[in-house]
Amino acid sequence: MRILRDRPQLVAMHREWSRKGRGTVALVPTMGNLHEGHMTVIRHARARAQRVVVSIFVNPLQFDRAEDLERYPRTLDEDARLATNAGVDALFCPSEEDMYPADGLPPVQVVVPVLSEILEGAYRQGHFEGVATVVTKLFNLVRPDLALFGEKDYQQFKLIERMVQGLDIPTRVEAVPTVREPDGLAFSSRNSQLSEEARAVAPELKRVLDEVATVCRTATKVDADRIAEVEARASERLREAGFEPEYLSIRRAEDLMAPATDVPLAEQDLVVLAAVWLEGVRLIDNVRTRTD
Ligand code: PAJ
Repeated sequence: MRILRDRPQLVAMHREWSRKGRGTVALVPTMGNLHEGHMTVIRHARARAQRVVVSIFVNPLQFDRAEDLERYPRTLDEDARLATNAGVDALFCPSEEDMYPADGLPPVQVVVPVLSEILEGAYRQGHFEGVATVVTKLFNLVRPDLALFGEKDYQQFKLIERMVQGLDIPTRVEAVPTVREPDGLAFSSRNSQLSEEARAVAPELKRVLDEVATVCRTATKVDADRIAEVEARASERLREAGFEPEYLSIRRAEDLMAPATDVPLAEQDLVVLAAVWLEGVRLIDNVRTRTD
């Protein structure tokens, strides 16, 4: 596996791949500190393309809190070892100066209206502009045929999907189901920041999401009030368990808008999403009501 640290090295790789026959290229964008969730996405990429590029870039543009950016774990040596073992062809880990040469400011930002303003976007100012901008840059630099994202960050996946459609970006995007610990907690770089007590509480998030999904799957009569009531009761359950919920929301899986109120929830393709704080650590998760 080769490690590419800047644009010239990436250009050299493109030149070599053109000479040898490029084949299909899959990109897995990450911020590093690779765990089983990332590795599963990488394995999907390996199975779908001849060449796999993993990018590692802790993107300052998408962090809304400076301390979060500072304490984000950076473990390049271990990441490189894991990527090599997974059969990754190239690890692209550019510097901040390389990605944002003008004093860290991007001269252009990509905005995906509506989808970037709701749920996560309502609590994290500028987050999705940061994500959309860096992913566009990575797509232009790596020029992948296919890019894979985890369903763990469901809204992020939907946003990238819409961005690719809206800007006619010639990259296919695919989602990989969320990978979880045996007790249901979704793998996340943030899990390592949890104390032993908080780690024991954390799986309750998935349990509450599952309960709401079950209510949705069996609800034959609904109206907006009933949906709000289910959401409020679930938020209360989260509070009782020790979380501070930011939101818990039942949305349409297709576009993350509110469910239709003239069709039973049981007949709709929905996703239940939540963001919670647990002892100063922010966790997000979601569960689909359909698994097809
Ligand atoms: P990061 O949090 O490192 O995640 C990289 C990819 O791994 C994302 O597509 C994410 O959804 C996926 N992933 C993380 N945990 C997962 C899990 N438990 N199961 C399945 N997939 C999981 O998401 C980002 O980085 C950044 O926003 C990025 C897209 C790289 C842009 O900077």
